[in-house]
Amino acid sequence: MKMTILTASLISLFAGANTMAADVQRGHELVSTHCVNCHGSEVYTRPDRRVTSLPGLYKQVRFCEQNLGLTWFDEDIDNTATYLNQEYYKFE
Ligand code: HEC
Repeated sequence: MKMTILTASLISLFAGANTMAADVQRGHELVSTHCVNCHGSEVYTRPDRRVTSLPGLYKQVRFCEQNLGLTWFDEDIDNTATYLNQEYYKFE
């Protein structure tokens, strides 16, 4: 019984940590692997860029990812959008 409670709280601890901090390094790797065939980072920094907000960035990442048929989990959308935001967009 004690073990069960410990295991359950450990799992929720890890799950909580996961949703709080995106893995920016993984986002970087995903972008380098999947996202450089059509456009490089120049689309993220051009003056007339389409993405103008953080929610918009998530939407655009999801859009390109789905176009490629990658079927990422939300976690990887999060990792990728967080990476692009930290590196290029810098929304609050
Ligand atoms: C099949 C080609 C293709 C691939 C591969 C691709 N994209 Fe795109 N992406 C586009 C096109 C087309 C646009 C729109 C460019 C434009 O409006 O000139 C775009 C635009 C974007 C933008 C918005 C840039 C802006 O103007 O602010 C983001 C962010 C983006 N892509 C993220 C990604 C991510 C993340 C991946 C990898 C999952 C990816 N893209 C892979 C085709 C692609």
